[in-house]
Amino acid sequence: MWVGVRYAGSEGLVEPAPLAVIFGSPDDGRHCNRGRHVPDPATFLRDQWYAAALSSDISDTPFARTICDEEIVFFRTSGGQVAALEDRCAHRHAPLSLGAVTGDHIQCGYHGLVFGADGICIRVPGQDQAPPQACVRAYPVVERDGWVWLWIGDPAKADPATVPALPFFGVSEWAGFQKYFHVKAGCQLFVDNLLDLSHVAFTHAASIGAASAADADAEVEVTVEADGVRGKRVLQGVEPGPFIQAWGGFEGLIERHSSYVWRPPSVMEICSRFSDTGKRITIMVINPITPETATTAHFWIGWARDFNLDDTADTEKAVEQNTQVILEDVRIIEGQQLRMTKYPDTPAIPIKADKAVNAVHRFLDRLHLGQPSDQHGDKSSAAAE
Ligand code: FES
Ligand SMILES: [Fe+2]
Repeated sequence: MWVGVRYAGSEGLVEPAPLAVIFGSPDDGRHCNRGRHVPDPATFLRDQWYAAALSSDISDTPFARTICDEEIVFFRTSGGQVAALEDRCAHRHAPLSLGAVTGDHIQCGYHGLVFGADGICIRVPGQDQAPPQACVRAYPVVERDGWVWLWIGDPAKADPATVPALPFFGVSEWAGFQKYFHVKAGCQLFVDNLLDLSHVAFTHAASIGAASAADADAEVEVTVEADGVRGKRVLQGVEPGPFIQAWGGFEGLIERHSSYVWRPPSVMEICSRFSDTGKRITIMVINPITPETATTAHFWIGWARDFNLDDTADTEKAVEQNTQVILEDVRIIEGQQLRMTKYPDTPAIPIKADKAVNAVHRFLDRLHLGQPSDQHGDKSSAAAE
């Protein structure tokens, strides 16, 4: 039975989708559509852990959330474990989330059938026994590092050891926060955003970027590994942008060193180090992103700093500042989704900065096709721009 595993230690990655390509316009004589395979965005990778909620979201009140187009109700049992059940009563399909949690069970708000955390109906009001076929699907679920992770796929394949370790929250070495955003755009669009940090100089010129860094000579490296894609981007001698200038107390130009790992299906972990000759600060940005539907997503930011650890006012300010940063992205990404929905067959045109995006898309392609990851790796590095 899969019910509320509290977990404290492991690692594990798994894999991503490419761009169809068109060069030139149809009437300039250079029309070329390379037509790479693009997975149907409505097809969600199965046999994967998806971030589903913050631990603090789940209580003895039913919590409804759609993950990969599957309606799920979460609740916390009297023992503190998280349960995740199909949000559809076995009797006549009422959402169980409209019912109530009673100890270790959830009771449908329509005719009162009671289900355990294993999805089995244990009581039908007015009759002696519950029909044996009265059950709903129970999902494997794990709590770790402040998030609740849900397994979409075959429960027999769910291994808690493969839930990503993101140990930056509730520990003494880091200070920060975790926050949820609902996004009206497909999950992969936000993953792509995080994989291409060249957008920072433009999208975030008023917050963490600086327009003056747009054409800076970036050192870029992307490495495809068995369990995910890693990369780094280094900029020397650039303006820090207003938020980073304030966080680090920088007075002049800085070095920006960002390294990241993407883990399948859609978890980003970015380590950013900002430094000048006298000072360096480190910020971890953790972004699990989970499909709600093909065109909407659940997005979390986990943000942790290694400086001013005891300053709660700093944390409150960081929540406000990072909310601005994320909304700067959301504005762009939701606009992208609107255009992509209206013009679904129009391919994208790749540029050099898409290197990591393309690597992740190819990784996802292999997963969608049921192929093993590229075990020998696909290492490369190059100066960009
Ligand atoms: S629909 Fe749930 S008890 Fe009838
Ligand atoms: Fe961004």
